[in-house]
Amino acid sequence: MPEQDFHHLRQDGVSLLLDLSGQTVQLMHYGKALGQIESIKDWQLSQQEPVAHGELDEPIWPGLYRENSRGNIGRPALLGHRSGLDWSPKFLLINVDKAETFLTAVSQDAQAGLEITSKFEFVGAGVLEISQTLKNIGAADYSLDDLSVILPLPDQVSESMDFAGRWVKERQPQRRQIQPGMQVREVREGRSSHDYTIIQMAMTKGANYQQGEIWSLGLMFSGNSRHFIERQQSGRSFIAAGELLLPGEVILKPGESYAAPSVAASYSANGFDELTNRHYDWLRSRPNHPKRARPLTLNVWEAVYFDHNLEKLSELADVAKEIGVERFVLDDGWFGSRRNDTLGLGDWVVSSEVWPNGLGPLIEKVKSCGMEFGLWFEGEMVNPDSDVYRAHPDWILKIGDRVPPLGRLQHVLDITNPDAYQHVLNQTDAVLKQYEISYIKWDHNKFLIEPGHQGKAAVRNQTLAIYRLFDELKARHPGLEIESCSSGGGRVDLGMVGHADRFWTSDCNDALERQYIQRYTQFAIPPELLGSHIGPTHSHTTGRIHDLSFRAITALFGHAGLEWDLTETTAEELKVLKTWASYYKANRELLHTGKMVRVDQQDDAVFVHGVVSKDKTRAIFAWVTLSGQAGSRPNAIRFEGLENDKNYRLKAVYPAGEPRWQQRAAPSWLLGVTLSGAALSGTGVRAPIVYPEQALLIEIEAI
Ligand code: GLA
Repeated sequence: MPEQDFHHLRQDGVSLLLDLSGQTVQLMHYGKALGQIESIKDWQLSQQEPVAHGELDEPIWPGLYRENSRGNIGRPALLGHRSGLDWSPKFLLINVDKAETFLTAVSQDAQAGLEITSKFEFVGAGVLEISQTLKNIGAADYSLDDLSVILPLPDQVSESMDFAGRWVKERQPQRRQIQPGMQVREVREGRSSHDYTIIQMAMTKGANYQQGEIWSLGLMFSGNSRHFIERQQSGRSFIAAGELLLPGEVILKPGESYAAPSVAASYSANGFDELTNRHYDWLRSRPNHPKRARPLTLNVWEAVYFDHNLEKLSELADVAKEIGVERFVLDDGWFGSRRNDTLGLGDWVVSSEVWPNGLGPLIEKVKSCGMEFGLWFEGEMVNPDSDVYRAHPDWILKIGDRVPPLGRLQHVLDITNPDAYQHVLNQTDAVLKQYEISYIKWDHNKFLIEPGHQGKAAVRNQTLAIYRLFDELKARHPGLEIESCSSGGGRVDLGMVGHADRFWTSDCNDALERQYIQRYTQFAIPPELLGSHIGPTHSHTTGRIHDLSFRAITALFGHAGLEWDLTETTAEELKVLKTWASYYKANRELLHTGKMVRVDQQDDAVFVHGVVSKDKTRAIFAWVTLSGQAGSRPNAIRFEGLENDKNYRLKAVYPAGEPRWQQRAAPSWLLGVTLSGAALSGTGVRAPIVYPEQALLIEIEAI
């Protein structure tokens, strides 16, 4: 077998080995760097399989597309048909274009009239982006049901992890044994969803933050999705992701193509931290990643809700200025008849009822306080009680005359309809233009039910339309930043990162819940893209009461902000907020460019996480008590991600006040101690005793 028929793509300690010597593309290995392969022939011999009883007479190498015609009895990568025919293709590789970091393979089944192009590209930090396009080269329409990326996993994978959730409780991890069958995470909401996993992972047994091999796949899309991990009866395991297409959603006419959303694959030989940091390095290297320091933000939603009043909002602006806030975001309620959430959605015209002199006076006030101004929109939605719906009841996604059930008293506007799209674009554009607004928070509060356009399923086109709309607004308003919100974290995904600059991570501002939501959303998305606000003392979504220091330290590890009626703060709280705001500004560069570190704990009552500068000379860690600790003598706080043989000065800092101590005597290292990186990771420092739901910030500096 000629050696040139193998291609070994490599980047940053990750290998993808493809065999192109046969009729189809064979993914031979994805994961651990294989180094220089001296003899492909020997390597291939080492992979030769025995023939089992009860199986086909030749070992099955199902290939990238896993066609049934090649003996595969698992789910093929391509599903579809031409009026019942051409459902079982057999692709032949016809062309390969390759270089050091990419390979593009074109395969055809001339008889079935189908051509697939698959591109594998290492896009930075060892992250592999896989893009596939299907072209109908036949003479009749082809109905596409599914085109997924399915990667083989090595035999040592044993467990899986993905994230599930709901409103105000997004991204809860679920870890399972990989068993024969499929572990499928499907989303049919027409948005990525609160329940969206963002990435699905397969791991070696017992993998943790620092150890174990991990493979992940994440669909780069905000519509319907399917991720799965499969173990076949042969024992082979696979990981897969693809767009979930509704029946008839994609019917390709002769000559037409379907470009599937790309999939991002990542691999770590050293636990979750390495996987996460590969994601961060990759996302941070994209040209559209926000470059400006992430401004400290005040969102007024939990401060005033729909009660818009220039005087009150001006007072808020004054307090925000005093604290050092840099961006002031006016939320829902400024437009049309929107005095509560039952009406007005869809009419993006400043309400003369609440804003008789327009938004100008508030914007001037905000700007005079040295802050940027941001505004809330929810362009894909309408209330039935709105001018736009009264004038165009047919502009919503629906099937025939059937009106879908309401959610938060709203319907989803069909922005695949060019007139509806133009309406949203023009009204939004006009407001941005009139007031020179450079920041918008864009919401999406209802999932899609019967999302039909002229009767046909339209999730894909609706998703592409919102991407187009965001891109168009950005083209018209250079420098415009968009925050993607969907009742909190309902549209946080690797597709939206290409079009938005911030995610509203969750409507839950309860710091305890946020510890979990942020930690797990940050598996795939870096903190600078994730809004994290200090909410009111008494959480509006859980009723819990938390100390300001806990809320503030929790909010520090993200794109920080406030969402609280600041006019009610005490002088003491204001003082704390000011110090915290300066601390955020002084340290955001580190927090938003450094490596994420989470330290494994024996006691589930504790989280330790931190950010270490790339050169490993500085770090900020948080030690968090989620509940009462197990032992009367708390476990040591250990640190990872540092240089073993460097000496570091470490001390506790209190930019948001001290946690509530529960000890008769404090460990004296809190005031400062010098230890090597090896000691900090090996023995660490003895934790103090504090109440549950407290956090301690620890600074580390190389000396
Ligand atoms: C959603 C968002 C909130 C807020 C409200 C406004 O719930 O997630 O942050 O903007 O809508 O109605």
